Amino acid sequence: MLILHVVGARPNFMKAAPVVRALRLHKGVKQTLVHTGQHYDANMSDVFFQQLKIPAPDVNLAVGSGSHAKQTAEIMSRFEPVVLQGKPDLVLVYGDVNSTAAAALVCAKLLIKVGHVEAGLRSFDRTMPEEINRLVTDQLSDLLFTPSQDGNQNLAREGIAADKVHLVGNVMIDTLVELLPAAIRAGKDGFTGRYALVTLHRPSNVDDPRTLKRILESLLAVNDELAIIFPVHPRTRQRIAEFGLKVDQLRLLDPLPYIDFLAYQRLATVVITDSGGIQEETTYLQVPCLTLRENTERPITITQGTNELIGHDMKKLRNELEKILSGKAKKGSVPPLWDGHAGERIADLLVRNLS
Ligand code: UD1
Repeated sequence: MLILHVVGARPNFMKAAPVVRALRLHKGVKQTLVHTGQHYDANMSDVFFQQLKIPAPDVNLAVGSGSHAKQTAEIMSRFEPVVLQGKPDLVLVYGDVNSTAAAALVCAKLLIKVGHVEAGLRSFDRTMPEEINRLVTDQLSDLLFTPSQDGNQNLAREGIAADKVHLVGNVMIDTLVELLPAAIRAGKDGFTGRYALVTLHRPSNVDDPRTLKRILESLLAVNDELAIIFPVHPRTRQRIAEFGLKVDQLRLLDPLPYIDFLAYQRLATVVITDSGGIQEETTYLQVPCLTLRENTERPITITQGTNELIGHDMKKLRNELEKILSGKAKKGSVPPLWDGHAGERIADLLVRNLS
């Protein structure tokens, strides 16, 4: 049996790692790894392969950056011959990035089975490119692995047959559980004092000069009470330079490797982010998270976890930060099946369904 994994962007790597590892324990399963090259900077890609101990990709499509149409089309045309040649029994795609939807579309047309890891998440906001990728990928998938019950409900509402859908839990948390001891060792004698860990990369936050300026000014305003540690995504770095924004007093870092970021995250007073996965990681770590988005495809991090939506309301950001600083942070609990074993459940289901 041959399983082909497709990864392309930073958030895919920590989702694929536990599935690759779990499938290795099944005799008779061969695996191929294709990297689309959507993310190509060493600190957005190579370092994750090293720390997560993912084998080097068998194929790198090296598509690089471009408009959505161009990037998606480029992935499709370079991926098609790879699938035709490899003839996998199933292709596994991860998350909601352009590489995910592009690979699913290629396979669906070639009648090759697709499994989607992290299926069923919905923000109900079609202005987000990721929401389009989620909708398309789930419609085209043969096996859908959901991280939480809300995913199953969303898929049922969209008419996807229940026997294709499997609630397996959260693979991102598998990686977190695996590497937390390394993060604890890495962070043992460093970070004292209170700090906010910040990440920003969504077009809705960083592509408009006025929005980005307001967010950065709000961060500067709290910098006296709370140090700001801000590993900057390449897209955001470009925008800050392009718009000529002043950021001298914020601690801007290059994108961090997985273990280093986790070390900062677990000891943060608060995390301020527009990422999807970080909303989940903070819920697991029980660290308060303030999300600079109007909606989330991960509602369980709000209903059960430590996450709060802030949108673009900088007054609300200030109020929530004050609550956290005065010891009144939101408390949460860890959702069911976010237990470090989701990858094993996926591997078992794949073997059962494909044998
Ligand atoms: C992509 C995903 C997003 C995910 C994010 C995590 C889509 C639609 N978006 O967004 O869901 O949360 O990854 O990081 O798939 N760039 C570099 N080096 C790189 C990669 C990107 O400099 O290695 C710069 C380029 O200028 C590029 C821009 O960042 O144009 C955006 O990259 P792209 O892959 O299009 O989207 P992300 O914003 O990274």
